[in-house]
Amino acid sequence: MRILFLTHSFNSLTQQLFLALRGCGHQVSIELDIADSVSEEAVALFKPDLIIAPFLKRAIPISIWQHHVCLVVHPGIVGDRGPSALDWAILNGESVWGVTVLQANAEMDAGDIWAHASFSMRVAKKSSLYRDEVTAAAVRAVLEAVQKFAIGAQPMPLAEAVTARGILRPLLQQKERSIDWQRDSSAVVLSKINSADSFPGVLDTLFDSPCYLYDAHLATAAILDAAAAAAAGVPGDIIARRDQAVLRRTIDGGVWIGHVRPMRSADDAEKPFKLPVADWFAAQVAQLPELPTALVRPAEEWGELRYWEEGPVGFLSFDFYNGAMSTGQCQRLQAAIQHVKQRPTRVLVLLGGEDFFSNGIHLNRIEASAHRPSESPADESWNNINAMNDLVLEILSMTNHFAVSALRGNAGAGGAFLALAADIVWAREAVLLNPHYKNMGNLYGSEYWTYLLPQRVEAKVARGLMQNRHPLAAPEAVKIGLIDAAFGYEADAFFSEVRKRAMALAQSDLFEEQLAAKRCKRAEDEATKPLHAYREEELSKMHRNFYGFDPSYHVARYHFVHKMPHAWTPRHLAVHRNNSLKESDTPI
Ligand code: COA
Repeated sequence: MRILFLTHSFNSLTQQLFLALRGCGHQVSIELDIADSVSEEAVALFKPDLIIAPFLKRAIPISIWQHHVCLVVHPGIVGDRGPSALDWAILNGESVWGVTVLQANAEMDAGDIWAHASFSMRVAKKSSLYRDEVTAAAVRAVLEAVQKFAIGAQPMPLAEAVTARGILRPLLQQKERSIDWQRDSSAVVLSKINSADSFPGVLDTLFDSPCYLYDAHLATAAILDAAAAAAAGVPGDIIARRDQAVLRRTIDGGVWIGHVRPMRSADDAEKPFKLPVADWFAAQVAQLPELPTALVRPAEEWGELRYWEEGPVGFLSFDFYNGAMSTGQCQRLQAAIQHVKQRPTRVLVLLGGEDFFSNGIHLNRIEASAHRPSESPADESWNNINAMNDLVLEILSMTNHFAVSALRGNAGAGGAFLALAADIVWAREAVLLNPHYKNMGNLYGSEYWTYLLPQRVEAKVARGLMQNRHPLAAPEAVKIGLIDAAFGYEADAFFSEVRKRAMALAQSDLFEEQLAAKRCKRAEDEATKPLHAYREEELSKMHRNFYGFDPSYHVARYHFVHKMPHAWTPRHLAVHRNNSLKESDTPI
């Protein structure tokens, strides 16, 4: 079938649906929701059999749904209606939630039901649930709905869905999210912030400034005891700092708060954007006692970096919010790798974060330097990419260990190439890779990709990946040789298999032989063309992106960080608008 997506953005859920439907042999084209007339034009050009709205923030125009079947993906159970479905589910402590695919009609979310799928909730940020459980359920439900549509089946009117327990809920307002520091337990504070993370955040005050809070983690009793020695504090007090987060007292413990977005004041020319707390409130945070944490520590003790060993295998997780890696974060991670490389282990598993493996350089932190008199975004971009490159080099120059990248979450741009620096790359089956840079204002990219990519795929495939800018599902990435294996759809299943495979690698009789072969290959590659030559070539192009005459990268970064609405749909997505780009053009 010809399927047109009408969507607010080509976000990860939309990307997964796009890949799943194409995998079933459908032709899929995408139109971003810009204006009714533009959507109408897209429908006229593509002449779709079916329209799907995977992620829309407003209603489909009547001129479209009256003449075409339009399936809307709603992140709620049957009968649930309204724009804050998942937010309410988290706040209300639902244990099971779902995704419903319904047909667009005059009433928002009240159309006939084509399919639905459910999932167990877990304690997590809204965006994490959305990218994981909601996305998986959406894929199941949309595939079922499309199949039903293809055979001429009819949807079920909402009124006939007798088991429906969902109800119409209004937009969740800040007053319902608001934290009462004198009453709310740590668990309630966490669920309020989780329900609003990544958007819109919980409006509160930090250091007497109104701002939106994000990225909350429970503090352990041990750390609260340590903090009490320095400053006991009353509920609501900010008593310590760690990494770039602050520790705030609650009535029964405390929470770490990692990210913040100041509320726009009358003086602000533009809306402030999300940054680590220590970036927005540098002077105030610097006054707080620091409670650093050891790299080796129990899992419940929050911190960005954590290392542990299981016999001959070391595991290093780097859970950076949104997978964005600033200069300082890259340097801290590099120092951690330098340290764990000295350990008498045989395999080092790089785990990235739970939600994202990595998304490359920290665009928000770079954008922030445009607002600081002593900094410049070009310099910060340059520092950040060099720090990423140093990190990649650290992995590439590991001679006594096998490095494994184990992708629990998605990886994009430089973060995808960071993963490829390891000797072996495994990914959870549900992971999406976006191994390309061009979406960010034609950025050339670095992270030694010109060395790493041709090691894994043919030149033609490499060109396709970089130019077509399509996402790749992990199993497809295995098929083209970009990564080595994809297994385990659920996080637990993936990790237990990672442990088994890493242990088998470390205990293999062939380990020393394989390590020698790896060293030999690296030496041969170095003799053919040294790594510094790849780096210099890439950086000469990046220097032009950052400091040159063409401002595309700076403009794209500004748009990305400030979440500017799209003005048009990129031609590589809107197949119906581009005669020269065939729908069958794929990187594979
Ligand atoms: N720097 C800062 N923030 C980043 C980031 C980066 N490199 N990559 C993603 N983010 C943030 C987004 O702004 C968004 O923030 P939010 O908390 O306000 O929602 C969040 O991470 C999730 O990103 P989103 O785009 O909504 O997720 P997605 O899963 O739909 O798409 C990507 C993932 C990787 C395709 C997309 O985020 C992207 O293109 N990122 C930029 C990658 C890049 O160009 N890096 C620089 C070159 S190395």
